[in-house]
Amino acid sequence: MPVTLNRIAKEGANGPAMMPIIQGVGRAGIEISALLRGAVFRGALGVAGSENVQGEQQQKIDILSDEIFLDEMRSTGHVCAVGSEEQEELLMIDEYSHSDWVVLVDPLDGSSNLDIDGPVGTIFSVVKRKTASSEMPHVSDTLQSGREVVAAGYVLFGPSLMLVCSVGEGVHGYTFNPNSARFELSHPDMSIPATGGYYSVNESNADKWLDGMGSKLEALKESSGLGMRYVGSMVADMHRTLLKGGIFLYPADEKNSTGKLRLLYEAIPMGYLIENAGGKASCSADLAILDVEPEGLHQRVPVYLGSTSAVEKLLG
Ligand code: AHG
Ligand code: MN
Ligand code: MN
Repeated sequence: MPVTLNRIAKEGANGPAMMPIIQGVGRAGIEISALLRGAVFRGALGVAGSENVQGEQQQKIDILSDEIFLDEMRSTGHVCAVGSEEQEELLMIDEYSHSDWVVLVDPLDGSSNLDIDGPVGTIFSVVKRKTASSEMPHVSDTLQSGREVVAAGYVLFGPSLMLVCSVGEGVHGYTFNPNSARFELSHPDMSIPATGGYYSVNESNADKWLDGMGSKLEALKESSGLGMRYVGSMVADMHRTLLKGGIFLYPADEKNSTGKLRLLYEAIPMGYLIENAGGKASCSADLAILDVEPEGLHQRVPVYLGSTSAVEKLLG
């Protein structure tokens, strides 16, 4: 019998509570995947004409994916609030406002790839609320460091549909099997290769990077001989980094002086997965992504994620 997402219930202290939430992520993934496949026929591609709180153009599919994800979190019956990259404020789930769990999400990551039928993803993490269950959840419930995360993962919409997640006991990859219509365990106990792989970065920004990153990357390239790959979709770039090793980075630059990627929706979930897979996740030489104390829902940080040796070689 194939192993399905039910297995999560047997994984450590957090597994039983996280299973229904991750199953909800799986259902959202199936629905978003159907939306993506039919988008060109339904006029659902293209910009929505609105901006998100970060001043970025929203695509129609960004908004629809956000609605699907929120709906599936509501239907788990275990989530009291969702913080989303596409929403300025924390979204309350009134019916279940007494529940313990708060979910953070980037509903559609890499949406600039939609126009060219390139890979995109969904990234999520789960924390336990700090406020009493008798109160309404509060934005402070989301502002917890990566050390408090109890589950995180991503869905990759590529040639196959994959859900990669961790509840703190290893990282496991499930692939959607169209014949059984279920996610089945295909990549148990994922661990990032210690050597080899690729460096992955938007190198066209190199002359604008801060922190001397231009010369540091040159030194890494020379000493490691790593090849280069970059999709511009963090989920796709991180999935390759997790499987093949190397490093993914998005440094601070003159335009994005604290980095481009979002701490709560992108950096922490990916940092949690990479640490659980035996790699290293840093904001700088002496600061782990998971040690950053969040100050705001939409805060951004520089990210360096990958094989421990590559991250240490780059940052020194
Ligand atoms: P999103 O589509 O959720 O806004 O995220 C885009 C992010 C991330 O997926 C990717 O790593 C990065 O932006 C790409 O940025 P550049 O186009 O600046 O390289
Ligand atoms: Mn993103
Ligand atoms: Mn997004």
